[in-house]
Amino acid sequence: MKLADIPAALGAVRARGEYRAVSDLRMESASRGLRRDGSSCLVFHSNDYLGMTHEPTVIAAARDALRWGTGSGGARLTSGASFELSDLEAALARFKGYEAALVFNTGYMTNLGVLYGLADRNDVIFSDSLNHASLIDGCRISRARVAVYPHSDMAALARLLAETPCAGERYIATDGVFSMDGDVADLPALAELAHAYGARLLVDDAHATGVIGETGRGTAEYWHMSGVIDLQVGTLSKALGAEGGFVCASRPVIEWLRNRSRPFIFSTAIGPATAAAALAALRLLEASPETYLARLRRNTARLRGALEAAGLPLLPGPTPILPIVMGDPEEAVAFAAACRADGLLLSAIRPPSVPEGTSRIRLTVTAAHTEAEIDEAAGILIRHWPGRGA
Ligand SMILES: Cc1ncc(COP(=O)(O)O)c(C=O)c1O
Repeated sequence: MKLADIPAALGAVRARGEYRAVSDLRMESASRGLRRDGSSCLVFHSNDYLGMTHEPTVIAAARDALRWGTGSGGARLTSGASFELSDLEAALARFKGYEAALVFNTGYMTNLGVLYGLADRNDVIFSDSLNHASLIDGCRISRARVAVYPHSDMAALARLLAETPCAGERYIATDGVFSMDGDVADLPALAELAHAYGARLLVDDAHATGVIGETGRGTAEYWHMSGVIDLQVGTLSKALGAEGGFVCASRPVIEWLRNRSRPFIFSTAIGPATAAAALAALRLLEASPETYLARLRRNTARLRGALEAAGLPLLPGPTPILPIVMGDPEEAVAFAAACRADGLLLSAIRPPSVPEGTSRIRLTVTAAHTEAEIDEAAGILIRHWPGRGA
């Protein structure tokens, strides 16, 4: 693009109601934020599902690891290795039931790194149309052929698998929990198709880890299945309250990625304090899943129940992601702005994050919200819902 064309292009983005700007926020707790103007607000758009970012044990672990420096000082294979990162990988592999795990700098980098490192010219990646951008971009930087199937349409996936020639490996790549819709991938059907066509299953559990399944182990636990996902991606940035991403797989696959995945090899590793925070959060979740998950589910049911009783058209789903599709991006932005003016932060999601015509409000509930905060948020949402004449 010519740089001189950018002002006009930005004008077009604005005209479509898709202009984005950063709004600074300082999180005072896992559920309340402080804005630059000094006002405090309720936060209902965070992915900190378990409130781990402000758990005293997690903060203490990060503080303690600061003794080993604020940054890692280099890529993992050179000077950036730390005890905390290797301990975290061992704990993640155990938690998910795999031989090994590898931590990348973000969940985004993990999907790039896995698909770049594994999928080659002879391979085909079958990808759900609503997969997260990082999986889509991972498909792009791999050298594989990509076949996109309509969202969760297992009949269409079966047809594609049957009719797409492949001399190498077939990968089926899907989000476990879809980030903008809050629905769960149909793992039993995916596993059956993977088995029938000799395909490898890659599931991105960014919004599933610590969220679904009886003990928060994600999509496989939700469906009571084990051993069917070959490559399980996750992030440390959501329910684990830190930053970074990870993939769990067999030991040879992890060794291969450590040796061949450029996003892993050529980027400075996350620091020990961040790894220590994620590890502490994982240990808390493992020690008492019922505490965190029961609170998360109770809170989700409370907000969903209040909004549905008032007639707000939430998409169905078992997760704390509560989407309300509005269609028009400007209407979604206006609704979010009205709620923000009343001290409630939520996300107005527009293209390209979601398909054209499906702009929406995305609310997220966490285990850290109090009942009073949920009731206050519900009151604001209902008051401002279009047609209510707030
Ligand atoms: C499904 C999915 N995968 C990957 C990511 C990227 O994770 P991260 O924010 O850690 O880069 C996200 C979230 O942003 C996501 O929703």
